[in-house]
Amino acid sequence: MSRKTIFIVDDDPTNLATVLGALEKHYSVLALNSGEKLLKTLERKIPDMILLDIEMPEMSGYDTIRILKGNAKTAGIPVIFLTAKCDSDSELEGLTLGAVDYIAKPIPPPSLLLKRIEVHLLVEAQKVELVHFNNNLQEMVSAKTKSILELQHTILKTIAELVECRDDITGKHIDRTTHYLRILLDGMRKRGLHTERIASWNIDLLLMSAQLHDVGKIAIKDHVLQKPGKLTPEEFEEIKRHSDFGAEIIEKIKKGTAERSFLDYAGVFAAYHHEKWDGTGYPRGLAGEEIPLEGRLMAIADVYDALVSKRPYKEALTHEEAVAIIKDGRGRHFDPDLVDLFVCVSDEFNKVQMELRDE
Ligand code: C2E
Ligand code: SIN
Ligand code: SIN
Ligand code: FE
Repeated sequence: MSRKTIFIVDDDPTNLATVLGALEKHYSVLALNSGEKLLKTLERKIPDMILLDIEMPEMSGYDTIRILKGNAKTAGIPVIFLTAKCDSDSELEGLTLGAVDYIAKPIPPPSLLLKRIEVHLLVEAQKVELVHFNNNLQEMVSAKTKSILELQHTILKTIAELVECRDDITGKHIDRTTHYLRILLDGMRKRGLHTERIASWNIDLLLMSAQLHDVGKIAIKDHVLQKPGKLTPEEFEEIKRHSDFGAEIIEKIKKGTAERSFLDYAGVFAAYHHEKWDGTGYPRGLAGEEIPLEGRLMAIADVYDALVSKRPYKEALTHEEAVAIIKDGRGRHFDPDLVDLFVCVSDEFNKVQMELRDE
């Protein structure tokens, strides 16, 4: 290991010589006769420790340590005061200013001086090690957290795609819906719409969770889900169960996971995405602001995408036809404020559906 460097600062040449004699066999020592010289030297070299005299003619040891502690580059260097002022007030002042120790003059015998310095260098080395250890630990934890989030995201996306492919809906529907929601959220932020509510959401988790809104379709029989034509009233009653069923499935998953938050929004999306503003939706028939905001947002994103897409039971409509249908549902199917927002940002919806079009 290379030698540690110690700077000694004292205006008295005899003291400098004594300390130098005691330390130079073990450390690389630089003797300086004023605080000004110390500051100058520190511009090119940072020592492992400074032994600092208090009473010096120009700049005192107290003045010097204040400057050291006020500069980020030098604040971490341990300073030991060397002084004849051995009353407890001076000692307290020195320690308050950030010195790690106080050695009284006359300078103690070399072996004792070395021991005191060695102890402090050891403490400093351990501090540095602790900081490294902490930094490493933090890096490990954030890497682990990131990989857990990625795993959750992959599992959610896979489940969502498995569900959707049953009624011939591609994974692109999920990607598009995530984009639509993001467009609506950005627009709400810009317009100051429900800003507090949005600020309380973790948007990444919210969008991840939104993918599962139709997970309840797992429980719907193929002949209903894949029926090429119009559903009978009985078949539609069966379809309507996918909201509650989805919420139940998510509740089950949540019970089995310690990590609560990542599915907290998913149940809300699943349960409320088919409610309608006028109270004629399902499963609860909630009206207006009784419908959680998540559900009101998803209603627009989900219906827009269903309209511009081909389904087993319907052909794809044009963007303009879809916008007309959503405008027509203002205050009946959809939250009127959100329809107004949708109309403003509908070009962005159009761009997404064209870029992520199904083959
Ligand atoms: P989906 O196909 O993803 O449709 C989601 C929602 O988009 C529908 O919810 C509805 O609000 C809206 N939507 C879809 N197509 C049209 C349309 O041509 N015109 C209008 N005005 N709105 C449309 P809804 O009605 O509660 O249906 C939920 C799910 O039930 C649908 O999801 C689909 O999987 C199924 N479904 C609904 N109607 C039929 C049908 O006639 N035949 C078949 N096979 N399935 C249907
Ligand atoms: C919610 O669970 O988020 C809202 C409850 C309700 O409106 O029924
Ligand atoms: C709201 O209307 O902004 C709150 C509705 C909710 O998400 O519970
Ligand atoms: Fe649905």
